[in-house]
Amino acid sequence: MTVIAVFNQKGGVGKTTTTLNVAASLALLDRKPVVIDLDPQAHVSLALGVRNLQSSATTAAFFRDHIPLDRVMRRLGNQIRLLPGHPDLSKIDALLGATPGVAGTLKRGLDASLAWDDAPILIDCAPALGVLSLNALYAADRVLIPVTADYLAIQGLNRLDLALNVLEGPLKRRIQRRVVLTRFDETRPLCREALASLKSRYGDNLCDTRIPDDPALSESPAHGMDIFAYSADSPGAHDYRLLTMELLSKGFFQ
Ligand SMILES: Nc1ncnc2c1ncn2[C@@H]1O[C@H](COP(=O)(O)OP(=O)(O)OP(=O)(O)O)[C@@H](O)[C@H]1O
Ligand SMILES: [Mg+2]
Repeated sequence: MTVIAVFNQKGGVGKTTTTLNVAASLALLDRKPVVIDLDPQAHVSLALGVRNLQSSATTAAFFRDHIPLDRVMRRLGNQIRLLPGHPDLSKIDALLGATPGVAGTLKRGLDASLAWDDAPILIDCAPALGVLSLNALYAADRVLIPVTADYLAIQGLNRLDLALNVLEGPLKRRIQRRVVLTRFDETRPLCREALASLKSRYGDNLCDTRIPDDPALSESPAHGMDIFAYSADSPGAHDYRLLTMELLSKGFFQ
């Protein structure tokens, strides 16, 4: 298994859209991806058409009641295996925040289960660096960081880099990061400036593929569908297919 945390503590930068559609693209390539929803908003679960679950059937129960991870796994029609989220995840910080070793809970849970084979596992994180995101970062082999091309988002990225650097200490390893520009509009000077500054800072760790706005990407979740099921010929489907191929070709999922 290769574990990818899709993380940025800034909200609304395209974490969920990226998790959903990279996973869907991997599924179409028969890579049998797993999506773990660690966001109390449970947006990726909703976008995959999984809603109104009891919290006992979700990742909240894994953290709260020590239910094995494979017990909450669902096989979806689009070949994604989903470990759904639930609003009760918002209580995990208060419940477990002070427990020693709590950040390793998800990693231990994944290691204890044999159900993953060599599956790519994508974790959709909440826009906060709390206990849940720490668990995602501890479990992750790599971090995929969606970022929008605006000043505040780039500022947020500085903080994120610092936080990841600090985490590398206790983890005793480098946290590999790959940044992907979302909601990108190359006609806007601000976007072009952001691209240049990210390119000089991240070099090859900035994805060549950029994701522009496409209304179909924001519509598909309302139908409980990924972009390929909703509109396979849309620009958004093309872009997420391209991003997935780029990540695969650069060994991101190995
Ligand atoms: N490329 C895009 N084109 C059009 N709409 C997009 C695109 N990317 C994201 N959106 C929309 O922008 C909003 C925020 O995206 P998304 O939910 O993926 O961000 P997020 O980082 O997961 O947010 P949060 O931090 O709240 O979890 C959503 O309504 C989504 O549909
Ligand atoms: Mg999200």
